[in-house]
Amino acid sequence: MRVLVTGGAGYIGSVMTKVLIETGHDVTVFDNLSRGHRAAVSAPARLVVGDLGDFAALEQAFVAARPQCVMHFAGLSQVGESVAKPDLYFDNNVTRGANLLEAAGRHRVKRFVFSSSAAVYGAPDRVPISEDAPRKPINPYGETKLAFEGRLADSAQTHGFHYAALRYFNVAGAYSGLGEDHRPETHLIPDILRTVLPEGQKSMADSPKSRIFELFGTDYPTRDGTNVRDYIHVHDLARAHLLAMKTIEDRDVIYNLGSENGYSNREVFATAEKVVGRKIPLKLGPRRAGDPPTLTASSEKIRRELGWKPEKNLEQMIADAWEWHRQHPDGYNE
Ligand SMILES: NC(=O)c1ccc[n+]([C@@H]2O[C@H](COP(=O)([O-])OP(=O)(O)OC[C@H]3O[C@@H](n4cnc5c(N)ncnc54)[C@H](O)[C@@H]3O)[C@@H](O)[C@H]2O)c1
Repeated sequence: MRVLVTGGAGYIGSVMTKVLIETGHDVTVFDNLSRGHRAAVSAPARLVVGDLGDFAALEQAFVAARPQCVMHFAGLSQVGESVAKPDLYFDNNVTRGANLLEAAGRHRVKRFVFSSSAAVYGAPDRVPISEDAPRKPINPYGETKLAFEGRLADSAQTHGFHYAALRYFNVAGAYSGLGEDHRPETHLIPDILRTVLPEGQKSMADSPKSRIFELFGTDYPTRDGTNVRDYIHVHDLARAHLLAMKTIEDRDVIYNLGSENGYSNREVFATAEKVVGRKIPLKLGPRRAGDPPTLTASSEKIRRELGWKPEKNLEQMIADAWEWHRQHPDGYNE
């Protein structure tokens, strides 16, 4: 299939691009490189550098790609930044994203797969969270994901395409030379690992404190007092996208993507120490505002309907991430 991957120079989109190429698809990446890396785009994918807000660039991408499917990863995704700059998030993730929907309709794209997020659920009453749980985001990032899901459903009806909205939990790991290089990095696993790299990534140089890993909150009502989160390996995530792309030939779907296994921050930390084979400097800090104690996904629906299940456990995710960070101590180094 011919696939247009927006955000394909970012962490997850770059792995998806690679997996699509490996499975025989023709890929065009569209990315403004604001948060992504040119070096993360695997050959022979075409790269069109442009912003979702730029109609001419989008048109150029659709003409180059002639896509049968759009996979939409492009977005801003830092919760703290979204709280500080909600307008930026609505503009980028919803308003500019809507240009993509319009272009997909005009170019008669038949399938659209969207990177949604567990953030649409906010702080749920019940875990594991199922897809029909109330959507009550607690930050602007989650609100933009929910708003785009709504736009997507409307657009699918108007233009006659089918869609998948995939609500990811915490994505981790690396695949085939492609890893996580967010600047600044706010995700737990790379944050822990980067404290023990001989040379920090560029973003670390700006933040000397990150030589010691700070764990926020040890008095939550969980098994060891720290937050429990659900992690999914980036390659397992990409496999789910392939299945979703296939299934939306004739229907729309919404799936959670997690492992159903929650790991506490202390458990993640201990597994990281095991993987790197040494003690990691640790500081116990206070709770951060807005962190629900436990967030785990029910992925029963995608298991039942598409036969998907995660193949990699936490230790494998951390081992793959560690290998990537060791090979790329300065990230993509652009
Ligand atoms: N990483 C996670 O754990 C996680 C969890 C849930 C959902 N998601 C969602 O998955 C998607 C990918 O996440 P990621 O971790 O790979 O992020 P990322 O920041 O690594 O990649 C996003 C890419 O989109 C590009 N981009 C952003 N705005 C753009 C615009 N207006 N026009 C063109 N390109 C633009 C960036 O340059 C970047 O390359 C995001 O939409 C994110 O919200 C990620």
